[in-house]
Amino acid sequence: MATAHASTDQHSRAKESVYFVGLRNAHAVETEATQLIGRQIDRIKNYPEVSQRLTQHLRETEQQIKRLEQILESHGESRSAVKDIGGMVMGNMAALGHSVAGDEILKNTFANLAFENYEIAAYTSLIALAEHFGDTRAKAMLEETLREEQAMAAWVADNVRTLTLAYLQREEAGLKSDR
Ligand SMILES: [Fe+2]
Repeated sequence: MATAHASTDQHSRAKESVYFVGLRNAHAVETEATQLIGRQIDRIKNYPEVSQRLTQHLRETEQQIKRLEQILESHGESRSAVKDIGGMVMGNMAALGHSVAGDEILKNTFANLAFENYEIAAYTSLIALAEHFGDTRAKAMLEETLREEQAMAAWVADNVRTLTLAYLQREEAGLKSDR
């Protein structure tokens, strides 16, 4: 009996330290994402398709944050506690986007692709954990988010070539090209 007890304790401790920490980190990453995306939308002047797709993903990201909050709340984690966690997880990746660069639109695109792929890995990991801990409702919500991240990553990846050539064309025509 003592052994069974110990293993249950370990199970719930792992849930605290691995699953819940992962959920909180994802929340911090998405909060950071809304800032990064919002800043790009504000600055883009000449690439309306990019601005449009980023706006769509900003709305999706806001829903993703709500999903994470719902999941955390279903485990008794308070909303304010979640919001207090700093969003420094993605600091390094955020630094990849150089808002003063002459090729700002391209650098931000590279950073966005890296960011979306980070999120894909994070949600793939969370889905495995939700499955392991029998959190069925959370798993379905996380899968919905994962599909949105995959779609965004695919869009950014598909757009790198077109965008590079559009940037080059504006540059060669002497038009404003950086953003
Ligand atoms: Fe995303």
